[in-house]
Amino acid sequence: MYSPSTHITANSLSYIEMEDRYGAHNYHPLPVVLERGEGIWVWDVDNVRYMDFLSSYSAVNQGHCHPRIIHAMIEQAKKLTLTSRAFYNNQLGKAEKFMSELFGYDKVLMMNSGVEAVETALKLTRKWAYKVKGVETNKARILFAKENFHGRTLAVITASTDPTAKNEYGPFMPGIGTIPYNNIEALEKELAGDPNIAGFIVEPIQGEAGVFVPDEGYLAKAAQLCQQYNVLFIADEIQTGIARTGTMLVTDTLTDDDGNRLKPDMIILGKALSGGTMPVSAVLCNDDIMLTIQPGEHGSTFGGNPLACAVAMEALQVIQDEQLADNAARMGELFRDGLRQIASKNPLIQIVRGKGLLNAIVIDSDEDSGLAWNICMEFKNNGLLAKPTHGNKIRLAPPLVINEEQIRQALTIIEKSLEPFRK
Ligand SMILES: Cc1ncc(COP(=O)(O)O)c(C=O)c1O
Repeated sequence: MYSPSTHITANSLSYIEMEDRYGAHNYHPLPVVLERGEGIWVWDVDNVRYMDFLSSYSAVNQGHCHPRIIHAMIEQAKKLTLTSRAFYNNQLGKAEKFMSELFGYDKVLMMNSGVEAVETALKLTRKWAYKVKGVETNKARILFAKENFHGRTLAVITASTDPTAKNEYGPFMPGIGTIPYNNIEALEKELAGDPNIAGFIVEPIQGEAGVFVPDEGYLAKAAQLCQQYNVLFIADEIQTGIARTGTMLVTDTLTDDDGNRLKPDMIILGKALSGGTMPVSAVLCNDDIMLTIQPGEHGSTFGGNPLACAVAMEALQVIQDEQLADNAARMGELFRDGLRQIASKNPLIQIVRGKGLLNAIVIDSDEDSGLAWNICMEFKNNGLLAKPTHGNKIRLAPPLVINEEQIRQALTIIEKSLEPFRK
């Protein structure tokens, strides 16, 4: 089997060895050492330029170092960065108003990393179950979909079905159930069988699982079922949100059979909420849920800090001003068309799937064959960075500022890189 040669310069190797020697071995990065970025481009320490087709797991939707976001960040950093929530600051209320109005919820609770926002959503769901739904103390259950990815804390990996994320971290948290993704009957059976279910949390498209797009109608039906059984429908849009899939949120498009809008009870955002400049995350919901948490019952020293607020407002404004959702939809169509053409000539690509600019190709190989890794190495050798997810799937998700010419350039690299592996 073709295996790409890996030329790593002594300069790059010195950084790789330093991380290896002094850092925890909790990631397996592609051997490229990046130094700067602009738009869809990143440069390594030897000044080699690459197209970024990972976008830091969809955190850099606005492009690397977007000048407006960096400007907002610097200006706020010069004034005030952190107050804690012991005092008010003049940015938090503005950011909360901005986000509430933009996404159409009463209130926002800001945190830092994505998983912290997921934890926040789980805590809100339990509080709501006891205070509003009337579930008996400590009996609340929350449903997750199998093959989910919601982050790495102990509570969240309790719901994981991926042994790599979970093995030897037990004991786990009670009150969690998992059901098959994209299976409405399984959800209904569970909801009908247990009155203590408080919430169903779901990724509108499963990103880490390999960009698995559910059937048309699944999310709308799930939202309606949750409503019927008085269960919170919680959309984790940390990876799919902020224009990535061609609309501000995937769940913006949900309607019932009569065309009435169906809104999740709670949405969770992170990643591109700061344009990839710093950790900023948020949970949005209405008062009946948000106000179940009282002062002192939840928080974070950095959550809602003025720097994060200023950055988040600018990052969201850039998405709107540059119409990045529309661009993601148009460029995504073009990209998938191109990928399907490559697949028609090269059977190595088994499946092309995705929405907007969240896409993946499934490589015709065993999950543990290493072939997808070797293909990503060849992409790198030809100037494009991407990473396999779950063995034989390669996620392809560039910053949303990408243009038509750059999409064609990427397709040329992808086609050329796959050629040596042809069976
Ligand atoms: C859907 C989803 N939820 C939660 C997370 C966790 O976010 P973070 O890594 O910022 O904790 C991720 C990260 O990839 C994600 O894709």
